[in-house]
Amino acid sequence: MKTPICHVLLLLFPLLSLSFYVAEPSPFNITVDSPPSTPFNITRGSSLSASPNQISYWLSPSGIFAFGFYSLCHETSRYKVGIWITDTGRTPVWSAKSNSYEPIYDGSSLRLNHKGVFMLQRLGFKEEPLFSNEMERASYALMHDNDNFIIYNPNSLVIWQSFDYPTNTILSGQTLKTGKKLVFNYEVVMQENGNLVMYNEYDLYRWQS
Ligand SMILES: *[C@@H]1O[C@H](CO)[C@@H](O)[C@H](O)[C@H]1NC(C)=O
Ligand SMILES: *[C@@H]1O[C@H](CO)[C@@H](O)[C@H](O)[C@H]1NC(C)=O
Repeated sequence: MKTPICHVLLLLFPLLSLSFYVAEPSPFNITVDSPPSTPFNITRGSSLSASPNQISYWLSPSGIFAFGFYSLCHETSRYKVGIWITDTGRTPVWSAKSNSYEPIYDGSSLRLNHKGVFMLQRLGFKEEPLFSNEMERASYALMHDNDNFIIYNPNSLVIWQSFDYPTNTILSGQTLKTGKKLVFNYEVVMQENGNLVMYNEYDLYRWQS
């Protein structure tokens, strides 16, 4: 298994403690709080949690794509909800746009509740719907092998799909519809030494050999 570049970076930064490195989970150790009732079929009651010791995600059938919490490289206790490629050092390909700018920390969770709404619980905050409020109630969802996360109603009709909301990349098969934007994830962080540093998750991951 390759060492994700984050680990290397963490070791290079003397300010960061080695315990971070030790606590970083193996990228292939899946944990789900309430697993889907059949493999890959995310049904009501399924849930995930953001935790430093375990990675929590739902896989596509071939295992190429995962949907769940991924940690931001430079700050392992903060997460995004999104999709990443599992076999290339966890390259994020899509991230959920949230209504709130509050960060997602350890102990936050995501579940498809019994009413059919994906709810994000940020630690210390009220639970809120992850996707748009107007969405029809979900019966189940699937992470597909083409990187599309699709939510279905009880009649198996598509009510929401990540392909309609491109963020980090456009993959083959995906189109950029008129009026839709491609959103990149930049973060600007004020360091303790007064340095203002802009991070692009993609630049970090691109170092991966
Ligand atoms: C997966 O995580 C669990 C819980 O942290 C741990 O006990 C187990 O050894 C891990 N397995 C692998 C293959 O990393
Ligand atoms: C997933 O589960 C739902 C609810 O149990 C079911 O209606 C649906 O047919 C399942 N879909 C797949 C692809 O397994």
